[in-house]
Amino acid sequence: MNIKYLEKSRLFKLDTNNTSYVIGVVDEEGFLGHAYYGARIADDDVSYLMRIYENPKVPSVNNRDRSSFLDTFPTEFSGNNVGDYRESAIAVTDKNGASGIQLLYKGYRIIDGKPGIKGLPATFEGESKAMTLEIDVVDATLGIEGTLSYSTFEDSDAITRSVRIKNSSEDAIYLDKLMSMCLDMDDNNYKMLMLHGSWARERHIEYRQIGYGKQSVSSTRGESSHQEHPFIALVGENTTQNTGEVYGFNFVYSGNFLAQVEKNQFDSLRVVMGIHPDNFRFKLNAGDEFYSPEVVMVYSNNGLGQMTRTYHDLYRNHLIRSPYLKKPRTVLINNWEATYFDFDNDKLLDIARTAKECGIEMLVMDDGWFGYRNDDNSSLGDWQVNENKIKGGLKKLVDDVNAIGLKFGIWFEPEMISPDSDLYRAHPDWAIAIPNRIPCRSRNQYVLDLTRPEVRDYAYNCVANILKSANIEYVKWDMNRQLTDISSACLDKDRQGELMHRYVLAMYEMQERLITDFPNLLLENCSGGGARFDPGMFYYSPQIWCSDDTDAIERLSIQEGTALIYPLSTIGAHVSVCPNHTVGRNTPFETRGNVALAGTFGYELDVTKLSAEDKAAIPKQIGTYHKYNQLIRLGDYYRMASYSKNNLYDCYEVVSKDKSEALITFVQVLNQPNMHSINIKIDGLDDNKMYRIEGTDEAYRGLTLKNAGLLIERPWGDFQSMLIHLVEE
Ligand code: DGJ
Repeated sequence: MNIKYLEKSRLFKLDTNNTSYVIGVVDEEGFLGHAYYGARIADDDVSYLMRIYENPKVPSVNNRDRSSFLDTFPTEFSGNNVGDYRESAIAVTDKNGASGIQLLYKGYRIIDGKPGIKGLPATFEGESKAMTLEIDVVDATLGIEGTLSYSTFEDSDAITRSVRIKNSSEDAIYLDKLMSMCLDMDDNNYKMLMLHGSWARERHIEYRQIGYGKQSVSSTRGESSHQEHPFIALVGENTTQNTGEVYGFNFVYSGNFLAQVEKNQFDSLRVVMGIHPDNFRFKLNAGDEFYSPEVVMVYSNNGLGQMTRTYHDLYRNHLIRSPYLKKPRTVLINNWEATYFDFDNDKLLDIARTAKECGIEMLVMDDGWFGYRNDDNSSLGDWQVNENKIKGGLKKLVDDVNAIGLKFGIWFEPEMISPDSDLYRAHPDWAIAIPNRIPCRSRNQYVLDLTRPEVRDYAYNCVANILKSANIEYVKWDMNRQLTDISSACLDKDRQGELMHRYVLAMYEMQERLITDFPNLLLENCSGGGARFDPGMFYYSPQIWCSDDTDAIERLSIQEGTALIYPLSTIGAHVSVCPNHTVGRNTPFETRGNVALAGTFGYELDVTKLSAEDKAAIPKQIGTYHKYNQLIRLGDYYRMASYSKNNLYDCYEVVSKDKSEALITFVQVLNQPNMHSINIKIDGLDDNKMYRIEGTDEAYRGLTLKNAGLLIERPWGDFQSMLIHLVEE
C-alpha cells in the first residue's frame, strides 16, 4: 500500500498490493482527471491515458473547443452546467439561482491512517495500516471548496472514496446533488452486475449489458431497500469466479442512493455512486460543510471470487466494530414464525424449556410484546410491556428464561408510530407527513420524524429503558416500512429536501448511542427481512436479518447474492418449519440446517411442536454449527456452482486462512434421472497439501482437486444437501 504524488507528471498514484489508481492534475487551470484504475502498474507517467494530447486538446491549447474537452475529458469529479454534458457529480443552486459549478485542483495532503466521516459509518484503519489522500478542489467563482478523499489499506485491495464540500462564500447555497464518487474509464464490453429483489426475494444477482446512455439502480425509499441494492459491478465479457476483470462499487449508506453507469458517444463509461438527488436539497450557509458517505471500490482481475473475498476481509477487518464480530454467535430461537403475535409468557417459557433441551442458547421475543399489539395494526411507539401477555412483567420473564439456562433477546421497531397508538394520539405531528395531506400508510404505520431531537430521544429512551429493566443481551432492530410524504414539521421550508438524509443520520446516531450505552449488546438489524442489509448498518451491528424468506431453496439465491459482497458472519439465517410459511415448500430438516450454516445460524419455529425426529436433529445441527463456527465466520468464501444459474444445484466452500481445512456445502435442488456424479472443481486449497475428506479414507492433493475436481454423487431426492469437510493430512 502506498500513496504518492509524482510531481513531474502531476499525478497522484494510489497503490494497493495488486491494484493502482491514478489521478492527474491537468493544464493551467488544474482540471482533475482520472488516468487509470486497474491492475497494478509502475510509477511511470501515464498522463497520456487521459488523452490530453489528442484533439480537442486541453483548453490552454484549444479554448475554442473547451466544451469538447470538458465533455470528453476523463474527469475525477464532474461539474455541472459548464460544458460536460455527462452525469454531474455535484450540482448546486447559487444565490442567483444559477447551477454552474466546476471544482478545480487546489492542493493535497497525504496522511497516515484514515479519518472518520462526521455522523456517518465508514471503514477505519483497524489493526493494519491505512493511508489517505485528500485532494482539495475549489470553484473560485462560487467560493465552494471541496475535498476528495481516498484511502488504501495495507491488507486490502479496496480503495475507499468520499467527498466533503464547504461553502466558503458569504452567501447560502443549495447543494442539489453530491455523488460520493465519479469514475470515468474506457468501456471494454462490460456488463453491469446488480443485486435486484423484492420482499422475501432480496439480492438476486442480475446482469445487464451496458448500452449507450444511462443505466442505473437506485433507491428513493429512505432505506437501501429490498428492491435494488447499493452495489454495482462492471464485469468483463468472459469474467468467471476465478478469471477476468471486475470493478465493484459498494455504498456505505443506508438511505436513498443512485448507482449509475453511463456510456457516451466515444464508448467511455462514467460510473457515479452517491445519495440519490431526488428529494435531496441541502442548504449550506456560509461556512457550512456537507460530508458524503463513502464508496468502497474493489478491482479484481482474478474474477468475481477475488472481489468477494476482498469485500469480506475489508468489512471484517475495517468496518464491523462489534465485539461479537469474531466471536461465535449464540444460537438463538426466535418466536416470530413460531407464534406471530399469539403468545404469552407460558408459551415462551415452553419454547425456552424445549429449546434448552435441544442445546439452543437464547430466546428472542419478537413483535407483539408491547402496547395492545395483537396484530400489526397498532401500538408502535407504545413500548410498554403488555402484561396481559407477559404476566408479571418483562423482568420476570427474562429471569425465568435465564433460570432455564437461556439468554434473552428482544425485538423493537423504534423508528415507527402506529396511527392507533397512545403516542400518535398525543403527538400526531411526530409522524413524517406533508401538511394538509393524509400520509400514505404502509403496514398500517407511519415513520417517526427522527430528525427532531425530542422524537429521537423519546424513541431511544424507550429502547434503553426496556434494556435497563432486565437482563437483555440481544436486540433485533426492525424497520417495516419505507418513507413517503417527505416533510418535517421542524425544518424550514427551504430545508425540506434535507429530511431524507437527516433521517438516516438520526437513525445512525440512535444506533451509535445504543451500542455505546450497551457495549455488550448483540445488535441485529432488520428491515422487513433484508431491506436495510447494507455496509452502513454493519458499522453498528455485526449481523443483519437477511430475508423473511426462510425457505432453504429460496435462501440459496438470496444468500448467494448477499455473500457476493458480505461475509457469512453477517447473514442472519435460521431454520424454520415446513411447509415453509412463505412458499409452502417442504425441504428436509437437514438441508434447512445446512443452508442456515452459511450465516449466523438459529431457529425460527415452535420447537415444542416439532416431530421427535426433527427435535432430535437439533443438538447435532448445533454441534455442527459450533464445529465450523470459526471457519465459516473467518474463512475465505468460494462460490463453485450456482443453482440460480444451472437450476439444479448449488455449491460453495469456506477455506480457512491457513488452508488447513475447508467446508464444502452442496445442495441438490433437483435430482436428475440416469445421470452420473457431478464434478466440482475445488478452489482455494493449497496446491501442495493433501486433504482427506473427513469420515472417509479418500485423500487428494489441492492441485488435483482444483484442476481435476471432486466427484459428488447425487443424493437421492430433491432438496438434498451434504457438507464435505476437507482436512489437511
Ligand atoms: C419483519 C421481520 O423481518 C420479521 O422477522 C419479524 O420481526 C416481523 N417484521 C415482525 O413484525
